[in-house]
Amino acid sequence: MTAILFDPIQLGDYHLKNRIFMAPMTRARTGPAGIPNELVATHYAQRASAGLIISEATAVHPRGDGWPGAPGIYTDEQQAGWSTVADAVHAAGGRIFMQIWHMGRAVISEAIEGQKPLAPSPIPAAGELPNSKGIPTAFDTPEAMSIVQIRETVSAFASAARRAIDAGLDGVEIHAANNFLIDSFLRDGTNQRKDEYGGSLENRSRFLLEVVDAVAAEIGAGKVGVRFSPTNAVFGISDSNPKAIFTYAARQLSKRNLAYLHVLEPALDSGSPMSVGLPTVARALREEYEGLMILNGSLSNETGQSALASNTADAIAFGIPFISNPDLVERFKNNITLTEANPDTFYSGGAEGYVDYAPVEFETA
Ligand SMILES: Cc1cc2nc3c(=O)[nH]c(=O)nc-3n(C[C@H](O)[C@H](O)[C@H](O)COP(=O)(O)O)c2cc1C
Repeated sequence: MTAILFDPIQLGDYHLKNRIFMAPMTRARTGPAGIPNELVATHYAQRASAGLIISEATAVHPRGDGWPGAPGIYTDEQQAGWSTVADAVHAAGGRIFMQIWHMGRAVISEAIEGQKPLAPSPIPAAGELPNSKGIPTAFDTPEAMSIVQIRETVSAFASAARRAIDAGLDGVEIHAANNFLIDSFLRDGTNQRKDEYGGSLENRSRFLLEVVDAVAAEIGAGKVGVRFSPTNAVFGISDSNPKAIFTYAARQLSKRNLAYLHVLEPALDSGSPMSVGLPTVARALREEYEGLMILNGSLSNETGQSALASNTADAIAFGIPFISNPDLVERFKNNITLTEANPDTFYSGGAEGYVDYAPVEFETA
């Protein structure tokens, strides 16, 4: 029988109540020290009817931590803040994985005490992020990482995963998407290294696989997911053959018995700004990857359902719909119109647009 969004699913170590997952979304509410507070706990607990919540991206190391107001998981205080979040989500009956990231070249130098951002090769990211005064600031040319820095960063991912589990989260999602550090090793527009971390598909996948193996050794593969965005171009990232590198990497991940592979790839006709018109590769990844696959990107109740019906994925992650509809699962079940999200509050800080979207009260038949 065809799976539907409301069917339960076994994901790694967990039996989840439905296949409607909350996509990771940075919301910049954790202050300069990156410590989640009660507001953050309330936000996630309100969305606990999702089969799985994937948290906003959370920094594993200060050198890769440059989004104003985004959380970290490298200090005891940050870990304690995350415990509050995990407790609130569990008390509300939910499950939560933490998305762990290193921002790589997309960190402005001011955010890392004037140091250069780190990347596989000295190619600056396109675009800007706000500095401490809120002024949009361009990225510096990054420093090409040494082997020692690569090893330290692999360890930082493993330590972050340990802290996430110790804080009470259910698992971690390794952020290998959206141009951040791991993605920039995978794609050849940003990786021009001549050593064992650059060139061939095997070499470009090496850093990802080292991170995955270190994290899985630390917390167990059944608590680890990986996120790819094979065909987007955020911060100017590119690859000459996305299908080749991402199917290769997916094949390697297949052997590792992870909880899931999460693919952010809007359909070409979705009108999503995340799609740049390249042929999509999610279908090819589905064929290569033997474990559970989550699909995300401009999907709706209907298109999410058809992606499951056509066996393109096992579960669907929804991003913006979850911002403004904390009870998205109930709304899908009862065909209730969705509330539109207000983009002005995505990163604005504070309660507005964060914990004040009301659930719809509805009568069950
Ligand atoms: C406000 C906002 C913050 C986001 N932050 C992250 C993030 O921290 N990590 C990540 O992998 N993707 C992030 N994304 C991308 C979303 O996870 C998702 O891929 C995107 O919104 C497309 O899904 P949707 O059409 O269902 O919203 C963010 C998107 C938005 C709108």
